[in-house]
Amino acid sequence: HEEVTKIKNVSKVQIGKFVVETWYFSPLPREIWKQDDPPIDVLYFCEFTLNFYKTKKELERHQLKRKCPRHPPGDEIYRRDNVSVFEVDGAKSKVWCQNLCYLAKMFLDHKTLYWDVDPFLFYVVCECDDQGCHVVGYFSKEKESEMDYNLACILTFPQHQRKGYGKFIISFSFELSKIEKKKGTPERPLSDLGRVSYESHWARELLHILKKIGDHPDPTSRTISIEELSDRTAFKSKDIEDTLRRLQILNYYKGQWIININPRLVEYWLSRCGGPGVPVDPEKIHWMPHI
Ligand code: COA
Ligand code: NA
Repeated sequence: HEEVTKIKNVSKVQIGKFVVETWYFSPLPREIWKQDDPPIDVLYFCEFTLNFYKTKKELERHQLKRKCPRHPPGDEIYRRDNVSVFEVDGAKSKVWCQNLCYLAKMFLDHKTLYWDVDPFLFYVVCECDDQGCHVVGYFSKEKESEMDYNLACILTFPQHQRKGYGKFIISFSFELSKIEKKKGTPERPLSDLGRVSYESHWARELLHILKKIGDHPDPTSRTISIEELSDRTAFKSKDIEDTLRRLQILNYYKGQWIININPRLVEYWLSRCGGPGVPVDPEKIHWMPHI
């Protein structure tokens, strides 16, 4: 089994107007691919239902047979300009979420992905136009997490990477945590690309706060605690500590850890942690925590 998972079983996927090279093996249903079958050259996805077919003909038959809703299932909980987010419940839209997982696994190096989608909510980011809402990426989140995870899996599909959606998704996950009045952290382990994105997000958000505080006219107000940073950002204290230590802003001094807001150091790091990506407007999130 271990052996098999290392070999890609699908070379490319067609989704909407894109044909994309896959990255990893995906354990597809047996009627599509089974062990010892040759790899599939192109797997054809309906970009709205995420149903997938081995031939273009079958996809066309599917598209003719039924009028697919031209957006993901579930509730649109965010819309700003042409970017929207749908909340899709794994228990209510099981097939759609499983299809998403089959597709996502082709770009995720996880040993296990969650095929039991019931305990998860999927936050699906779309670019919308007059043709419909086109999926660009998503994150999944456990309905209940004992570990304070506010994100299980994050993915921007390759044809939409490096456009700032990863940053959007990470910001969005923390905005939901703020609404829940909880502190959150992503599930570990993170992939290399995931870690780079998170580290720059934590750094950028914290540095912006520290810069404002460092600029305060009253020197006695130029200080803040980890707890306060945590309250403002919904980041877990541990992630804040690790980030500030990495930036050499948290120093051990006379037996205790202190935040050292050196404006030049803050400026230096700010200039190195990239732009904000596609911004999230928190006022445009229409969402209530699930209880
Ligand atoms: N090489 C180097 N740095 C990269 C990179 C790449 N291929 N892709 C992203 N980054 C870094 C950059 O610092 C980038 O910021 P910049 O464009 O301002 O330099 C930052 O990550 C985020 O870029 P952004 O455009 O917001 O992210 P994205 O939409 O490309 O999505 C991921 C980032 C991690 C979601 C995406 O790479 C992905 O889906 N990867 C595959 C799945 C995965 O590994 N998920 C994480 C599992 S824990
Ligand atoms: Na993950």
